[in-house]
Amino acid sequence: MSSIKGQTAIVTGAARGIGLGIARRLAHEGVRVILWDLDFAAFDSEAAGFKPLATQVVDVSDGAAVEKAFAQSLATAGSIEILVNNAGINGPVVPAWEYPYEDWQRVIAIDLNGTFHCCRAAVPHMRERGYGRIVNIASIAGKEGVQFISGYSAAKAGVIAFTKALAKELAADGVIANCIAPAMVETELMREMTPEHIKASKAKIPMGRLLQIPEVGAMVAWAASPECSFTTGFVFDLTGGRATY
Ligand SMILES: NC(=O)c1ccc[n+]([C@@H]2O[C@H](COP(=O)([O-])OP(=O)(O)OC[C@H]3O[C@@H](n4cnc5c(N)ncnc54)[C@H](O)[C@@H]3O)[C@@H](O)[C@H]2O)c1
Repeated sequence: MSSIKGQTAIVTGAARGIGLGIARRLAHEGVRVILWDLDFAAFDSEAAGFKPLATQVVDVSDGAAVEKAFAQSLATAGSIEILVNNAGINGPVVPAWEYPYEDWQRVIAIDLNGTFHCCRAAVPHMRERGYGRIVNIASIAGKEGVQFISGYSAAKAGVIAFTKALAKELAADGVIANCIAPAMVETELMREMTPEHIKASKAKIPMGRLLQIPEVGAMVAWAASPECSFTTGFVFDLTGGRATY
């Protein structure tokens, strides 16, 4: 496993936004990429600039569906070296005491449980082969706890703690698991946010700009590669100087 070229990656939530950018970057590195998403209506291979090995409709919040989808990916590819858990939703921007129960459940089900489901499905295969790279897309909100997005903050904090625990369990198995904690990126996810929330997020970034999708792709490409060999259970920041720890 000396090179990322020729390896196979599953990227969840990859039909658009950050996940698509990650998949594109991995494809350009010579990785065979399998895209998982709820909906591929927005995905156009030509516009995306790469040809995925496969696209699979899967809801990551459904554990049984994830198990089935993983078996299908494995049958297609023969082996899976890389898993990027990127599928996620923001949920409403409201005070915690007004947060609708249903939205809370949905955010935890997709952002936190989805990451668990995909790791649970992929890890036995990676352990068996003695090699794997897992990259979980968390958020700076998971480290700081951001006001008015308490469900999202809690889910992403959960992703960070889950990744740390999983990484320790896998430390002797050749399987490495890390998180990425981005600040705000300009994507469809912003449709759920208020202009005030977006303005406030930008103001917290010392570099004074939002994160660009290719910058996420570059960091994930390294964390997903064999070159990331002695870092596990870590949270890589992509915050333009915002993160202080
Ligand atoms: N955009 C930001 O500013 C930002 C900042 C930090 C972290 N993130 C994280 O990055 C990830 C991607 O965000 P994005 O901005 O590209 O969002 P996006 O809404 O543009 O794309 C998310 C993708 O995930 C898919 N998805 C949603 N629920 C799913 C499910 N249950 N099963 C499978 N696929 C599902 C959607 O269909 C969509 O294609 C998320 O985990 C998000 O929390 C985003």
